[in-house]
Amino acid sequence: MNLTFSLIKPSAMNHCEEILMAIKTGGFSILAMKSQNLTLSQVKKFYKEHAERSFFEPMCERLTLGPVLLMALYEQNGKDTPLQFRALLGATNPKDAAPGTLRKRFGIDLDFNAIHGSDSDISAIRELSFFFSGMETGLILSNSHELEL
Ligand code: PPS
Repeated sequence: MNLTFSLIKPSAMNHCEEILMAIKTGGFSILAMKSQNLTLSQVKKFYKEHAERSFFEPMCERLTLGPVLLMALYEQNGKDTPLQFRALLGATNPKDAAPGTLRKRFGIDLDFNAIHGSDSDISAIRELSFFFSGMETGLILSNSHELEL
């Protein structure tokens, strides 16, 4: 799939412009984006696959500390775009991330790793439709088809 979902976390919102520039320079187009304050219950649903992990509660709370930027990203002629985008993000822990990756540049540590990116096509579809309405998702998909023509 040539779409993915990404989210700039509250701790990195002060670097939004540089992050958006790096995403575009990295070969991804921003099909849709919106800034929003998330509720704890929304975040818990979003991260539900990690509900049993020890860090679940604090991880969720950190996403409610301020506005986030939600993005639908598109990669022209892309395949496996979620994985390609995760390569631009770098390792989950910024301390292990390669130089030049977004988490190396804008993250601090595992708790403040700046940006989330979907980990597979299936997650991307779920996460895009979790945060974007049916109409927004329809527009995102139709725009991506038109860009392919
Ligand atoms: S997995 O399941 O661990 O392979 O996946 P991963 O993408 O590495 O991690 C999933 C999300 O959990 C966060 N994470 C942590 N937060 C705090 N402490 C620890 N130890 C920790 N380990 C993983 C990680 O940041 C992922 O969230 P996102 O929002 O994608 O960064």
